[in-house]
Amino acid sequence: MMLAVIIGLTLAPLLSWIIYWTYRVQYFEKYLKNVPGTTGLPLFGHAFELNSPRKITEFIMKYYRLYNTNFKMYIGSQAYLNVTEPEDLEFFMTSTTNLKKSDLYNYIQPLVGQGLATSSGSRWKKHKKIILPAFHFDKFEKYIDVFNTHSDILVTKLAQESQKEDVDIFPFVICYTLDAICETIMGTHFNAQDDHNSKYVSSINLLIDIIVKRVFSPFLSSDVLYPFSITYWREKFTLKAVHTYTRSIIANRKQELLRNIREDEDSISSRKDEKKTKNKMFLDLLLDYSQSDNTLTDEQIREEIDTVMYAGHDTTASAISFTLYCLSKHPEIQRKVYEELKAIYADDLKRKTTYKDLPEMRYLDMVIKESIRMYTPAPMIGRMIEEDTEWRGIILPKGLMIAFWLYCTHNSVNCGEDFEKFNPERFNVDVSKDRHPFSFVPFSAGPRSCIGQKFAMLEMKCTISAILRRFELCPPTFEQPMVLTAAVVLKPKDGIYIKLKSR
Ligand code: HEM
Repeated sequence: MMLAVIIGLTLAPLLSWIIYWTYRVQYFEKYLKNVPGTTGLPLFGHAFELNSPRKITEFIMKYYRLYNTNFKMYIGSQAYLNVTEPEDLEFFMTSTTNLKKSDLYNYIQPLVGQGLATSSGSRWKKHKKIILPAFHFDKFEKYIDVFNTHSDILVTKLAQESQKEDVDIFPFVICYTLDAICETIMGTHFNAQDDHNSKYVSSINLLIDIIVKRVFSPFLSSDVLYPFSITYWREKFTLKAVHTYTRSIIANRKQELLRNIREDEDSISSRKDEKKTKNKMFLDLLLDYSQSDNTLTDEQIREEIDTVMYAGHDTTASAISFTLYCLSKHPEIQRKVYEELKAIYADDLKRKTTYKDLPEMRYLDMVIKESIRMYTPAPMIGRMIEEDTEWRGIILPKGLMIAFWLYCTHNSVNCGEDFEKFNPERFNVDVSKDRHPFSFVPFSAGPRSCIGQKFAMLEMKCTISAILRRFELCPPTFEQPMVLTAAVVLKPKDGIYIKLKSR
């Protein structure tokens, strides 16, 4: 009797799982049977092949080479349509209906809440309108001052390291991008470059590790089972540290603004003054708005700040580091960039970069684009079909996940027959004009494209130019194959080693 109960208790969940899996796969396959790809292993789909961030780009590229077009895959009973073709990216990215961000974004929500990158509908529209002026070009001169200050620190740190044989530049660059984003959006000195071990830096790194772990673990990815894990409690504890830090900055800044208002009677009316709004940075814009509309709460402001802090530092650090890596491997291309910089900075290569210099860096612009083509910082972005949608003569059913594999689109003939070659010339307008406009979309496109695209390009040019004017970048003495990890942002698994020679 006892044995029968035990067997029953063991078999019942397994049986329910089998029934559920069969039902779901049949539901999706009714619509997707003609889409290239398979359902993978019974019950698991392709979960085992995708079980680590290190394998994910290899796995996706393997299937992309096999099918040479968009293809489906399954994780458990959940179907994914992997979209790789430019015309299909255009179809989905420009769609304003029937798509929401995929459930994969739930894992970053504990960190960023319902900030711009994860929210939708009226909240997203309202917040985007408030935030947008922070990314207007009239702010850029001020931002460039910040990039100059922090790239000076970065160059000094790298100069100290350059005595070593090979330098892993990635940890230095990531602390730099944290400092830069913190000061530009909140006006606060973060000092990550001077304090690698600061609680905030280690907390953010830990939270990113936890997000990655959750994405790939069947146990941790389950909302029911997750609270029973130690990781859950570590996440809670770490989030508290990060959110407390952001809240304290918001509270201090609020006090400061209130003090200014009291001191300057005109300030209240001048808040409506467009000129003053133009000078406001990200946090001030949100705080200002919340004074006249209390539906924008301090907690919502905290979510927007945490969103931009995260979205604005990790991607840019990856892009800067991979560009430096590509330049170290291609001395001829590096020499051309250096020649361009010499022409722009005339006889004073040590002077600060100005806003006017940046459009002159045409070749560097092409080099950065080529690097982020090959090493796409956001390799995949996800959506979910909210209502049955017609696409290429078939119906995509509600609940289907869509993965835009920008990494595949960029590393294929969509970007030219010689796509395996590092060739900045492919971004020469005469060459690129014949390609599909959605064959290169590292910042996405359409209504949910990156709000920080121009900011990121300016920051990358400023930083890379500061490093190149000071050092010649050479391949490391002990060269290792580059191993990529792709969980949220594409990163080097074992760092990026470069030999730095002072100029
Ligand atoms: C090389 C650097 C960067 C790359 C490659 C990049 C890429 C992207 C991509 C692909 C998206 C679309 C994500 C999606 O649809 O789910 C996005 C959205 C976003 N990015 Fe960036 N990004 C970069 C830098 C930045 C910077 C510097 C900031 C802020 C200062 C920023 C803030 C955002 C925000 C707030 C969103 C959400 C926009 C919305 O949904 O309305 N990003 N980014």
